[in-house]
Amino acid sequence: MKEQLNAIKLNAEQELNHISSIQALENVRVKYLGKKGELTSVLRGMGSLSPEERPVIGQLANQIRSYLEEKIENAKEVLLKKEKQEKLQREVIDVTMPGKRRYLGKKHPLSIVLDEIKEIFIGMGFEIAEGPEVELDYYNFEALNIPKNHPARDAQDTFYVNENIVLRTQTSPVQIRVMEKQKPPIRVISPGRVYRSDAVDATHSPVFHQVEGLVVDKNVTMGDLKGTLEAFAKRLYGEEAKVRFRPHHFPFTEPSAEVDVSCFVCGGSGCRVCKGEGWIEILGAGMVHPKVLKNCSIDPEEYSGFAFGMGLERIVMRRFNIDDLRLFFENDMRFLGQF
Ligand code: PHE
Repeated sequence: MKEQLNAIKLNAEQELNHISSIQALENVRVKYLGKKGELTSVLRGMGSLSPEERPVIGQLANQIRSYLEEKIENAKEVLLKKEKQEKLQREVIDVTMPGKRRYLGKKHPLSIVLDEIKEIFIGMGFEIAEGPEVELDYYNFEALNIPKNHPARDAQDTFYVNENIVLRTQTSPVQIRVMEKQKPPIRVISPGRVYRSDAVDATHSPVFHQVEGLVVDKNVTMGDLKGTLEAFAKRLYGEEAKVRFRPHHFPFTEPSAEVDVSCFVCGGSGCRVCKGEGWIEILGAGMVHPKVLKNCSIDPEEYSGFAFGMGLERIVMRRFNIDDLRLFFENDMRFLGQF
């Protein structure tokens, strides 16, 4: 039995010397010291020993047990240390490595300029108003003094949803919606998307943006319109900017005008941007037609107002020297990243 025990000790020692993982170590422990382990089963056979042998073998067995336990414990410590070391090695971070560049989003050029325009008008006491893009024929045309069969309807290439519903062709219907809800004094601008059934090319798109303006109060005059637009042009294009009114026609304003701003590139002497004109058309405007006020239950004897509407894309194209409107809608990061 003594030989048996010494053999166990020797075998266990040998196995322990070649251990390389905690799991393997545990397997060895179970194999020799576990409940069904080799040492344990030898001890079970002690009953057949003589009373003199028993304490001697017992002592030896216990010695071997605690010897092996200690060896296992030591081996475990070594393995744990090694594992930790390896883990640290694996997870080492090189703090001197260059970082990854994160792409920072940018404002769309249309938003850059629209925000500026809003800021300018808010500074003059205007509020922002909004209206639906899917609009009743009544608001888009009828209430703006554009009855059915009026030639102005043809000029606008309207998308009809059905007989009474259209995709708005202009932001002017918001004027009506505001005047229906709110009594003067009114000072609003209304930016938004509008739709016209145009084929796409460098200067046309079936969807684009307008910014509408409306002021209604007592004693509002054409002079107020001029002063407001002049102040706006100077804020947007610089102090040297001048504005020029040319007579025009809109069904919902009377009198009406198209408004030009002196070319902000050449200052008026004529260049490529203004096509030699010295002036650039930026918006349509006029005094709100008395019929339109009446349609909104505002008494034209008591109140008067002016309105204007500008195409955002055209303004932004000139500002940044962009020659193709399609670039605004293609979401090409190479284009958008430049602003
Ligand atoms: N709605 C007109 C257009 O789309 C612009 C405009 C607005 C003209 C307000 C006068 C007054 O062309």
